[in-house]
Amino acid sequence: MKVLVATEKPFAKAAVDGIRSIVEGSGHTLALLEKFTSEEQFCAAVSDADALIVRSDKVTKAVVEAAKKLKIVVRAGAGYDNLDLAACREHGVVAMNTPGQNSNAVAELAIGMMIYISRNCFTPGTGSELSGKSVGIHAFGNVGRLVAKLALGFNMKVYAFDPYVKAEAIEKEGVIPVSSIEELYSKSHFLSLHIPATAETKKSVGYNLISKLPKGGCVINTARKEVINEEELVKIMEERADIKYITDIAADNQDILNEKFGTRVFASPKKMGAETAEANINAGLASANQIVRFFETGDKTFQLNK
Ligand code: 3PG
Repeated sequence: MKVLVATEKPFAKAAVDGIRSIVEGSGHTLALLEKFTSEEQFCAAVSDADALIVRSDKVTKAVVEAAKKLKIVVRAGAGYDNLDLAACREHGVVAMNTPGQNSNAVAELAIGMMIYISRNCFTPGTGSELSGKSVGIHAFGNVGRLVAKLALGFNMKVYAFDPYVKAEAIEKEGVIPVSSIEELYSKSHFLSLHIPATAETKKSVGYNLISKLPKGGCVINTARKEVINEEELVKIMEERADIKYITDIAADNQDILNEKFGTRVFASPKKMGAETAEANINAGLASANQIVRFFETGDKTFQLNK
């Protein structure tokens, strides 16, 4: 079988070497398409592939239709808003992700971002410390849990809200569960976003929630830009000079944010949450192993489009 790794933002070399050794060691062949710049290039490369590994690369209907032999696509990572699951289902392609494999990298970045913004983006002037502050974890999944654990190590008071996780499970991690999303925002100096981008969550974080943050509140976004209502973010930041926003995924209106709010905002030049050798290796090798197991035994653990 031919396995294509198509990554506009390539994996670290060690991850590619590991993927190659798993794929070729199981008798399959590996092809690489890195730093591609167009959907046409992607479609051409995937046309004879039996399996596909991607990161945030968009697996659109056109890509799935071009991939005549494709049987499985694995998103090396957690969020799968880049996969057209309906197109995969229609063409009999099994779609998977690799949950948890890059979570630690993202969680560490969320804490790093809290420090960076608290120290005025490393510009001269008096900053503040994390110790004693409160952090709200918006969605208590793999990343949210790890951010909570790290924040507790910084002596922070940690709250969480997740309608899909029982309060007892949150309490077990030393975290205080709250019963509404509004309560979470009203208690959090730092609000760390860990919701996926879905029809339900897109633009769901806007004026009403952000305005609930206590004085000096800051939203940390290592999730997806789509969950923010950008116009409303501008509005509340104009009204309240104490609010800050730091994101790993630049907003569509990032230029406006930068111009208006200076060191009260920061966006990574390119999403870097999962950009560690460890996360690349964990997610890349998990993807390769999932593909090999699928071809060998029909294992569909982590299938998203059942
Ligand atoms: C994820 O959903 O796993 C993260 O956002 C990482 O995405 P990336 O592999 O494109 O960096």
